Amino acid sequence: TDITKIRNFSIIAHIDHGKSTLADRLIQRTGGLTAREMSEQVLDNMDIEKERGITIKAQTVRLEWKGHVLNLMDTPGHVDFAYEVSRSLAACEGALLVVDAAQGVEAQTLANVYQSIEHDHEIIPVINKIDLPSAEPEKVRAEIEDVIGLDASNAVLASAKAGIGIDEILDAIVERIPSPKGDPDAPLKAMLVDSWYDPYLGVVILVRVIDGSIRKGQQVKFMQTGTTHLVDRVGAFRPKIEQLPDLGPGEIGFITAQIKEVAQARVGDTLTDAKKPAAEALPGFKEVQPVVFCGLFPVDAADFEKLRESISKLRLNDASFSFEMETSAALGFGFRCGFLGLLHLEIIQERLMREYDLDLITTAPSVVYKMRLTKAAGEAVGQEIELHNPADMPDPNRIEEIEEPWIQAVIYVPDEYLGPILKLCQDRRGIQKNLTYVGGRAQVTYELPLNEVVFDFYDRLKSISRGYASFDYEQIGHRAGDLVKMSILVNNEPVDALSMIVHRSTAESRGRGMCERLKDLIPRHLFKIPIQAAIGGKVIARETIAALRKDVTAKCYGGDASRKRKLLEKQKEGKKRMREYGSVQIPQEAFIAALRMG
Ligand code: GTP
Repeated sequence: TDITKIRNFSIIAHIDHGKSTLADRLIQRTGGLTAREMSEQVLDNMDIEKERGITIKAQTVRLEWKGHVLNLMDTPGHVDFAYEVSRSLAACEGALLVVDAAQGVEAQTLANVYQSIEHDHEIIPVINKIDLPSAEPEKVRAEIEDVIGLDASNAVLASAKAGIGIDEILDAIVERIPSPKGDPDAPLKAMLVDSWYDPYLGVVILVRVIDGSIRKGQQVKFMQTGTTHLVDRVGAFRPKIEQLPDLGPGEIGFITAQIKEVAQARVGDTLTDAKKPAAEALPGFKEVQPVVFCGLFPVDAADFEKLRESISKLRLNDASFSFEMETSAALGFGFRCGFLGLLHLEIIQERLMREYDLDLITTAPSVVYKMRLTKAAGEAVGQEIELHNPADMPDPNRIEEIEEPWIQAVIYVPDEYLGPILKLCQDRRGIQKNLTYVGGRAQVTYELPLNEVVFDFYDRLKSISRGYASFDYEQIGHRAGDLVKMSILVNNEPVDALSMIVHRSTAESRGRGMCERLKDLIPRHLFKIPIQAAIGGKVIARETIAALRKDVTAKCYGGDASRKRKLLEKQKEGKKRMREYGSVQIPQEAFIAALRMG
């Protein structure tokens, strides 16, 4: 393809402002089948099932418009995947900024726009949903200028639903977004934008070619991992898969190269010609490292092998989570897993439970601590270790210093919610770095310990701001802190899945909160159950679950026989989801619920 005829762009939008509807329209108008039409076809034609795996993940679509090739690149929308987003944006020269004509600019949009501006994108504002009676396009146009600072005088007024303004959007992409630049004669340099596992094609790799070209039969070298692979397919999604002889500079498309695992195809890696390699790799490669760890254990010990198989399968498609076997006194055999963030953890956990039908116990998420131990006999310096699991915490007397990871967070929030957000950050040991106003919104920068963020910070932020606050963060290294391991004892037995590392200053309130929540989460038994939080041997909080009187059960389960049977069945079902500690049954939900801070 002639490089001057290529346009690469992404779509920025707040949830519900119409991104998917607009993408479908653009595909339809330029002659391709939309995702919905394709899945309808899939139902008619079982044979196309193999394409389904691709279309689910292939969010990059090649469109043709008036002699130009337009590549629409989709981007994931969550902070956990910030690095993937940054690579997708780096593969584009422009973006459509879709704003709902009735809702106006929302906080989340801001964070995304700024990222796009950082990548020097040409941004085309699209004011969508102008068909709504409540649409106020002129007000929204002014808002885009005041709040974001973009010239919106030539914003396109559109309705993705009614099909208004679609041609103008396509024309604007051709006219305003610059074509990519690249040298067709230089050695191949292509950025690996995304990769995923397809059961029929193996690992599929999405690339953006910078210089040179990539073709079938070529030996390509991955400059970061150092491996070499033979390219066996080159193509693009329209959105149906279409094989092409090659991809030249500026083009976006996919290749397959008989790669077995996505772990070998890292986002941000540079592909080059194995025989005529480029001198240096593209800038910006980052090895993504899991930052949040937790244990996953089967509720039923007999499911351990099934869990191992399921985790291995998921890992085929997601190189960013890690796992290794773990044993726990109370929970038996399971896995210690690492994730990019809490949402990532929840996605994996959810998939294991839903797709693989596993009942799981998730232990308290933990960040990675670094610690230096005191010198042992014969050692010149104290040993340095990394701690992923509170259960492995060494004897406090042997610890010289503990460091915890910190992040720098940028929060965008409408003025009226600022007060409670500042309080939240302050309560989480945050250090305020900056506070500025753009339009009616505040932009606050805080340094925060990651350990205060992983549990429920994002949920709290959203609920305090009714969904309007957005949050973006980056890691800024480890810092020393006064950290201690807090154990939870139920009926005088430590429950290792609930032990956590906390800052000494917040230990007592955390401990009290945990005990209070556990008191509500654990059902009453026939005996009294003490619940305690302790640091070392010292109890810092305590609650007691009162005993259930025997005759109460008898009364409530008495009477109608079928009702009684149903209750018993339900109980049996419930039992499967309980875990016994000493003689206390703890429901599965209690493990995660207890960690949510009030
Ligand atoms: P997520 O997929 O949740 O991120 O949302 P999205 O931004 O992709 O929005 P989506 O395209 O799913 O549209 C959200 C809702 O707005 C849907 O109910 C659409 O039918 C509706 N919608 C999209 N565009 C228009 C429009 O131009 N006019 C009207 N009236 N409704 C629209």
